[in-house]
Amino acid sequence: MKLFIDTALIDQIREANSWGIVDGVTTNPTHVSTTGRPAREVYEEVCRTVDGPVSLEAVGLETDQIVAEGRELAKIADNVVIKVPITCDGLKAVKQFSAEGIKTNVTVMFTPLQALLAAKCGATYVSPFVGRLDAVSHVGMDVVRQTKTIFQNYGFSTEIIVAAVRHPIHALEAALAGADVCTMFFDIMKQLYDHPLTDIAIDMFLKDWEKVPKDGSAGAGG
Ligand code: E4P
Repeated sequence: MKLFIDTALIDQIREANSWGIVDGVTTNPTHVSTTGRPAREVYEEVCRTVDGPVSLEAVGLETDQIVAEGRELAKIADNVVIKVPITCDGLKAVKQFSAEGIKTNVTVMFTPLQALLAAKCGATYVSPFVGRLDAVSHVGMDVVRQTKTIFQNYGFSTEIIVAAVRHPIHALEAALAGADVCTMFFDIMKQLYDHPLTDIAIDMFLKDWEKVPKDGSAGAGG
């Protein structure tokens, strides 16, 4: 499963990228607003920082606006993917982008049938928002599992990005469900390797290592 970082903060992207596990980036208007910088400047920097796909969201609501915006964003770099909300206008834009060879990530998605429509229009990725579904008492990961089945049934190559991830168990469930990608905040990505038992074991081994006789000196028994 590929791991994307879900942020527009360049320091977090650089740091996580240095761990060698980041396959791409997803941004959204909220993330860009937290940077306090002009969107274009942020997008150019993010696209320079990672080799993998970088999702940049179109904010127009009508097809023509989404298409015009997406075409401009796609000029930023070869790794740009246009994030398009799953609306009727959005679907039409995805179909157009697909014809032009522009990659798309269909977003704010909450049902497998929305995913089916996006795939039919040629979406490169679909992003079910699992955490937001869990928050309203639906099992978000069920949407991922059902979407996976539908894509397999009909041979769609559209990839599933598990989004709105709230904790590491979402990442585990995404991998078990066979999701193509899981996108997450920096802090959750960090939690994938952080474990208190790992820290305790390392600490214990280092303390025991101190007891090992140094070269040239006698051991504890003389
Ligand atoms: C993913 O591409 C989205 O940016 C993100 O997961 C949005 O979800 P959230 O705002 O609920 O965290």
